[in-house]
Amino acid sequence: MTNVLVVGSGGREHAISWKLSQSPKVDKVFTAPGNGGTENNVEISVDDLDELANFAAKNNCFTVVGPEAPLAAGIVDKFNQLGLKIFGPSKKAAQLESSKIWAKEFMKRNQIPTARFEIFDDSKKAENYVESLDYNVVVKADGLAEGKGVIVCNSKEEAVSAIQTILVEKTFGDAGNKIIIEERIDGLEASFIALSDGNVAIPMASSQDHKRIYDDDKGPNTGGMGAYSPTPIVDEIKAKKIQKEIIEKTIQSMKNEGIPFQGFIYAGIMLKDDEPYVLEFNVRMGDPECQPITMRMDFDLYDYLLASSEQKLSELPKPSWKKQSAVCVVLASKGYPISYPKNEEISNLDSVSENCQAFHAGTKSKEGKILTNGGRVLGVTALGDTLDLAISNAYSEAKKISWPHKVFRNDIGKKGLSYL
Ligand code: AMP
Ligand code: GLY
Repeated sequence: MTNVLVVGSGGREHAISWKLSQSPKVDKVFTAPGNGGTENNVEISVDDLDELANFAAKNNCFTVVGPEAPLAAGIVDKFNQLGLKIFGPSKKAAQLESSKIWAKEFMKRNQIPTARFEIFDDSKKAENYVESLDYNVVVKADGLAEGKGVIVCNSKEEAVSAIQTILVEKTFGDAGNKIIIEERIDGLEASFIALSDGNVAIPMASSQDHKRIYDDDKGPNTGGMGAYSPTPIVDEIKAKKIQKEIIEKTIQSMKNEGIPFQGFIYAGIMLKDDEPYVLEFNVRMGDPECQPITMRMDFDLYDYLLASSEQKLSELPKPSWKKQSAVCVVLASKGYPISYPKNEEISNLDSVSENCQAFHAGTKSKEGKILTNGGRVLGVTALGDTLDLAISNAYSEAKKISWPHKVFRNDIGKKGLSYL
């Protein structure tokens, strides 16, 4: 028996903690810093690598890292040096997410399909480049910007203003010292996540996120307002193609370059004319995608995370998945992703039925009450025999829960229905 320390505080980390606590091999699951829904919270921030290491050592923990920031800061390298068991990619491997430029150049030299691009640190040169193009572009800050450093442009004027925002006004700070200008690819977007031990990669169930704040994909991008799994957009043939031409090629190329990738590798995919292109890599589970994916796992997640960290994934059987669909509806506080009220009491949280989990994200527990504490507050995630049923199950549960400034999208999963 072992203990587990899950690092993070979002819906992803609640779902991972929930699943790991079901393993017969796991004694106690701690979460640092956790939220109002996770048990055994430890008050250590995700940036405090020394304290996290001390805690893991003292409590005999296998550590599982949820978010990108501690991975980019080198938590895995540090724990490995100290002989502590940990799941996730090294700092060098985490560059696939922490530097978009590094990732694009990696894809280019290894022939992994992605949109054509150029890199700039000079706004005038960037503007001249945009003027010379006959297609729309996306302007991206190089570094980590909490998912906000990407501006999808509909015209040259918008591209010029995006260049100003990132490179001149430095709205995303040093993350915008360099930018990528890439071709905008219009198609169907899906999230494809696999688990790797540096040698092999096991695909997780497919999923689709809903990034925009409002129904019908209107309004600004967010971390994700809901997700469902599986997505019919990635049928078996496309899944095989993505697995072979993108995931396995990436894992093999990372190994060849001397940077083996251990952890969850997330490819944000755009499918255009049935061909997949990588929009971005993340070096962790997606959030909210993690929530419906975890609900459908019919295997012991602990075994697989441990095998990834010990380079033994090929010794495990193919993981099995519940046939049902799962849908996660994010309940947010009005004003997210910009500014929103906090400390509002959430009611009827205990009313969710079997087959549904209200995963906590921005919540905290205070004097026996659960209060809102972030923009994305809960991920109400339900199973159903079909996507349609999973959608209605998730919404009927989501509607029971309330607080004064609760908001949510009404169309999570709808895009999937139109492809069935
Ligand atoms: P990223 O953080 O790189 O995934 O970008 C955020 C969002 O911007 C993606 O989920 C897409 O919706 C959109 N996006 C990024 N790159 C492109 C592209 N080359 N073409 C079209 N949309 C894109
Ligand atoms: N939901 C998208 C992400 O986790 O980056």
